[in-house]
This record gives sequence, C-alpha cells and structure tokens, in this order.
Amino acid sequence: MARRKYVVGNWKMNGLSDAVAEARAIFVAADDHPAVDVAICPPFTLIGPMAVAAPGKAIGGQDCHSAASGAFTGSVAAPMLADIGASLVIVGHSERREGFGESDADVRAKAEAGLAAGLSVILCVGEPREVRESGGAIDYVLAQVADSVPGEFDPARLAIAYEPIWAIGTGLVPTVADVAAMHGAIRGALAARFGGAAEEMRILYGGSVNGDNAAELLGAGDVDGALVGGASLTAAKFVPIIGAGASLH
Ligand code: 13P
Repeated sequence: MARRKYVVGNWKMNGLSDAVAEARAIFVAADDHPAVDVAICPPFTLIGPMAVAAPGKAIGGQDCHSAASGAFTGSVAAPMLADIGASLVIVGHSERREGFGESDADVRAKAEAGLAAGLSVILCVGEPREVRESGGAIDYVLAQVADSVPGEFDPARLAIAYEPIWAIGTGLVPTVADVAAMHGAIRGALAARFGGAAEEMRILYGGSVNGDNAAELLGAGDVDGALVGGASLTAAKFVPIIGAGASLH
C-alpha cells in the first residue's frame, strides 16, 4: 500500500515564544504540499501556544512519562500533551536514551502511554558510531525494535524513526544503500511480528537531513519520511524538505 510521506520537525530544546510565528509560517507553506503529512515537535512550553496559532495542525511532544499522572517532578504525561493540543509524541530519541538513561523497556512504556492517551507515536532507534563501524548496526537496531516497540497498536499511529546517532547534528549521513538496507530490515522485522500491519507503519529517517539531501534520502527504499532537527527550525530550511517529500508522490 502507498504510505503518505511524513516530515516531522524535532525542535529539541530550541525556541522561545517568538518561534510560534515561524511554526505558523511552516504550516502555512506546508499547505502547498497536501500529499505530505507535516508535524512539528517543539519544546513542551510551545505546544499550547502553537496549537492556538496553528489550529488543526500536527504538533507533538518530544518525550512523555510512562505514567498518566503522579509524583514525578519535572515530567510531563501523555494525557497532558493531548490536553494541550498535541496529537503526537516522540519517544526513545537517542538524546533521551543516552542523556537520560532510558532503556528499551522505558521507551516501550512511554510509547504505550502515548498510544493510550490517543497520541500518535514516533519511536526512535539508531546505532552509535562504533557499532556501525564494527558492522553490527542492523542487529543492534533490530534488537531495539524488538524490545521497545509495543505488542499491540494501530499501525497507522506508530512510526519508527531510524536515526543513526553518529549522523545526528554532524552533517554525516549514511549512504542511501545503507539507509535502504536498514529500513528494509526494520520493515522485515515488523512484518515477522505484526504481519500485514507492517505495511501500514511508516519508517522515517533522521540525522542531518537538509534541503539538499532530502530527495535522495526520502526516495530510498522503505523510507516514508524524515525526522529533522536543525533544519526544521526555520521555514526557509524546513519547507524545501517538505517539498522534496511532495515531489516523490
Ligand atoms: P539533525 O537533523 O539536527 O541532525 O537532528 C536529527 C534528530 O535528532 C531529529 O530527531
């Protein structure tokens, strides 16, 4: 089946109130490319203002707690994201796995919490540089997929993002052949576990995607979109990536 391309901006810890206007500009420009699903995941503080400024647009969190509420100082629960206007959440980003010690089991619990709150989930996986260099990238990532993807869900509401850690924010990208091989392996593992539902799940690539390389990366086998960091912060850089996705439909 044809999966719609999905281009998602992960703003990480960037953006004050004045960035809401930039998000609005991105969504307005994205309306010219209706074949592509576009989402922005700003810091928690901007989700509410962005949802007001761009009603009906896909806005998401970058993390959520696995519990729906409770004594977890500083954390944000998935129902809170939904309540303030988010429709999706990223879980398992390598900056959370590495920087905050999140295990595959933690990531799975967060994904389940997001789904239970009615959100779509983007679940991130990806290998460190030394694993890529030793030839173990596919095994490493498939183990992450096996241990962090929940057991039951609506396949249209759970996407995987393959983000090789060494490609994030570095300007380095894998070869298109390596991206296609990894995405094909992920699809195969999902098909072995979930059968035909795997055909409905989108697998995004992330790591140094920009307007110059987006068409090639988005055109690779089993690549259904992009999770974009630095190049998603301005309309000038992000809209060409959305346009690249549209050109492939
Ligand atoms: P960059 O696009 O800045 O490399 O970041 C990728 C990323 O981590 C998106 O989640």
